[in-house]
Amino acid sequence: MTSILLSGACGRMGREVARLAGEYGCRIVCGVDPSGQKYADFPVVSSFEQVGGDYDVLIDFSLAKAFDKLLAHIQSAKKPAILCATGYTKEQESFIQKAAKNTPIFRSTNMSKGIYVLNQLATLAKRLLPEADIEIVEAHHRMKADAPSGTAMTLLHTLSDSQTNNVLGRNPQSGKRAKGDIGVHAIRGGSVAGEHEVFFLCDDESITLRHSAQSRCVFARGALSAADFMKSQTAGLYGMQHLFS
Ligand SMILES: NC(=O)c1ccc[n+]([C@@H]2O[C@H](COP(=O)([O-])OP(=O)(O)OC[C@H]3O[C@@H](n4cnc5c(N)ncnc54)[C@H](O)[C@@H]3O)[C@@H](O)[C@H]2O)c1
Repeated sequence: MTSILLSGACGRMGREVARLAGEYGCRIVCGVDPSGQKYADFPVVSSFEQVGGDYDVLIDFSLAKAFDKLLAHIQSAKKPAILCATGYTKEQESFIQKAAKNTPIFRSTNMSKGIYVLNQLATLAKRLLPEADIEIVEAHHRMKADAPSGTAMTLLHTLSDSQTNNVLGRNPQSGKRAKGDIGVHAIRGGSVAGEHEVFFLCDDESITLRHSAQSRCVFARGALSAADFMKSQTAGLYGMQHLFS
């Protein structure tokens, strides 16, 4: 049984992780969330300072604004941590990389295995179709705080090189598409769990790669699979690729 400290325990994703933990041989021993609302058979405290007992792995589905306290806890606890929140700055991502020198850290802006496969397929399509114009479109539920999604930004990062320019949305002032532009577009509304499309647009033909998350379960399941993997890892930075080997 893997014991889990669940940060962001009262949010949409935290509740999914708590609901599915047993299926993965995991037990939530404590939740951390400022709302402090107890809704299951584990205590929920409002800050990391109040975490009492021991645990094997931390899973975080809190928000980017919680980063400083989360990182401080990880650095002092030195327990394996799975960081799933999106919307971090480049500087915050570099702090994670530094912290991973002393602590096992798993970082992914998308815990779905399918999205990892989408990234691999997009890399292959770009290599085989260097002439293609690339556009990324994502859609998420109306409550999502950050835009474009962390997953769209990861896809953008995967497909960017010295010849490309990132174009985050277009408006009447944007003008004509320039060679090497990669456009990223965000749609918000309803209860959409997560849709990502990558368009490779050539003359007279196009390819569209599409991933659709039908529910939030898929991200919770990915985080719980990662917990099983991470409990026995040494310091270092880990990602979705490690769940495929
Ligand atoms: N990596 C992935 O696969 C993946 C998938 C879905 C969502 N996300 C990201 O996970 C995060 C949470 O998503 P959500 O839909 O559950 O959001 P949510 O708003 O429903 O939940 C966030 C929770 O974090 C809590 N919180 C705020 N500050 C905190 C702190 N200092 N310490 C602990 N908890 C704190 C909030 O009270 C809230 O309960 C977002 O950043 C989202 O983009 C990532």
